[in-house]
Amino acid sequence: MMQHIFRKGTNSEKPVLLLLHGTGGTEQDLLSLAEIVDPEASVLSVRGNVLENGMPRFFKRLAEGVFDEEDLVFRTKELKAFLEQAATDHQFDASNIVAIGYSNGANIAASLLFHYDDAVKGAILHHPMVPIRNVPMPDLAGIHVWIGAGANDPICTQEESTELQKRLEEAGASVGLHWENAGHQLTMSEVKAAKAWYEQYFK
Ligand code: MLT
Repeated sequence: MMQHIFRKGTNSEKPVLLLLHGTGGTEQDLLSLAEIVDPEASVLSVRGNVLENGMPRFFKRLAEGVFDEEDLVFRTKELKAFLEQAATDHQFDASNIVAIGYSNGANIAASLLFHYDDAVKGAILHHPMVPIRNVPMPDLAGIHVWIGAGANDPICTQEESTELQKRLEEAGASVGLHWENAGHQLTMSEVKAAKAWYEQYFK
């Protein structure tokens, strides 16, 4: 089980927005983003199960930007199982989920994409990294992904953002890569760009 908030939307045909916070965040953090991206959609906002010095995360890391891959795989599987359980408990369609993640939350969303062809049908990744290398990728045909990256992001470099796009595209996903003239922070102009992309595919 994962601590979470579920809010039923006004339009059940809309995707369920899966919100995944950054390091030190909670399931409250991205609720306002969902409100901007699609106010009619249901929302499933989850708190990461790992604590790093009291800060919630979605998987362990050995150092900044160096992930504990064994834990990453375990936590990715745990989140996938939670999504299936949540779909039953809250009566939504598990094949109709679009993830919105920031930083560590974007990394676990990317890891869902690196491990499963049916976890999410789309993803908005704000400042993600390549979650893991040297794993066989699932077939991501038909899955739409948007990456928001900062040209001066010290945590997610330009090379890494481009590498993530390439790896997802090679697996068959359609990927939009958007650059902000900013660092690791999430800006309103990036959120608006994500919304414009979302409306192309999920309206
Ligand atoms: C991570 O650990 O997932 C990345 O370094 C981003 C973050 O600081 O959360």
